[in-house]
Amino acid sequence: MFDLSSFSITLNMGKSLCVYVLLLNLLVLSVLVLSERNFYNILGVSRNANLNQIKKAYRKLAKELHPDKNTDDPNAASKFADLSAAYEVLSNKEKREKYDKCGEECLKKDGMMGEGMDPFASFFGDFGFHFGNGDSRHETRKGANIVMDLYVSLEELYNGNFVEITHNKPVLKPAPGTRRCNCRQELQTKSLGPGRFQMIQQTVCDECPNVKFVTEDRLLEVEIEAGMQDGQEVKFVAEGEPHLDGDPGDLVLRIKTQPHKVFERKGDDLYTNVTVSLADALTGFSLEIQHLDGRKLTIQRDKVTWPGARLRKKGEGMPHYENNNLHGALYITFDVEFPKEGFSEEDEESLKKILKQKSVNNVYNGLREEL
Ligand SMILES: *[C@@H]1O[C@H](CO)[C@@H](O)[C@H](O)[C@H]1NC(C)=O
Repeated sequence: MFDLSSFSITLNMGKSLCVYVLLLNLLVLSVLVLSERNFYNILGVSRNANLNQIKKAYRKLAKELHPDKNTDDPNAASKFADLSAAYEVLSNKEKREKYDKCGEECLKKDGMMGEGMDPFASFFGDFGFHFGNGDSRHETRKGANIVMDLYVSLEELYNGNFVEITHNKPVLKPAPGTRRCNCRQELQTKSLGPGRFQMIQQTVCDECPNVKFVTEDRLLEVEIEAGMQDGQEVKFVAEGEPHLDGDPGDLVLRIKTQPHKVFERKGDDLYTNVTVSLADALTGFSLEIQHLDGRKLTIQRDKVTWPGARLRKKGEGMPHYENNNLHGALYITFDVEFPKEGFSEEDEESLKKILKQKSVNNVYNGLREEL
């Protein structure tokens, strides 16, 4: 009796030891897996996110997590490095495919991680603060700002998009020799003899290492945010004209809306015109309008529609810039196409009978009535 129970105890211990070893293994394994960063989680996007969603997420987080803005968080730099790595991989088709297949270790093995990608090389319009040497910027001279119109479609303003711009930027590079620099006017006192001085103004310069301009191709990415307004500006700090003794100016891109074939925009409202036949206008109709995101809007009328009548569709206008969930309205104004050729006497009589309309000679001010 006693023997049997002690046997069963050892058996149990053996079992739990087994389970314990298994758990330990699992733990070690999960730690190994954890050391691989989940780039999708870091960016907060789903695994099937498209490039636009990835860029959008990155741009938003880069603004929030930038170490210059989080000076009291000791982990700010590593968080930002994780973010940059996530963006580097997921924004590149080849790297993303590899990462999806076999993870970060795989990319590292193939030398595809962190190969000198400068995360600040593109993309940084409108961040509203300076990267890097942020402290000492008193009275430095600046090159001219370049202001450029950027033509975008109404579709882009409705849905949002990223636009790539390559520009040829003159960049200062070291060159042999020295040059006069930081020239300024200084007052100097010259002695003209005992008790007599003269103040003279002189141009004084420093000697600086020589530099030359080299043009570099720069890739900038502009986010066309949903709901942006015509004339709104996106600023790229330091992408403007260079300055020999100071900072480059900024590049300012001004959003311009290309005319659209179907819609006209006023504020957040959209306007469109639809012509229907007289028969449809009298008896009702159903038609489709393709919206800016590709959706088909069905417009149905079973009442009489008169020329100039206007239909208002709530929530089908442009998204509001500050809050994309709010939309303006879509106004559809109807025009009626009348038959060009006349009718037989017989038909004319029937029409008069059907329509039962009295003659009207109404002089009016042209204000439209809403349906
Ligand atoms: C609709 O028609 C009016 C009057 O002809 C015109 O002024 C307006 O530009 C048209 N709207 C669109 C979106 O074509």
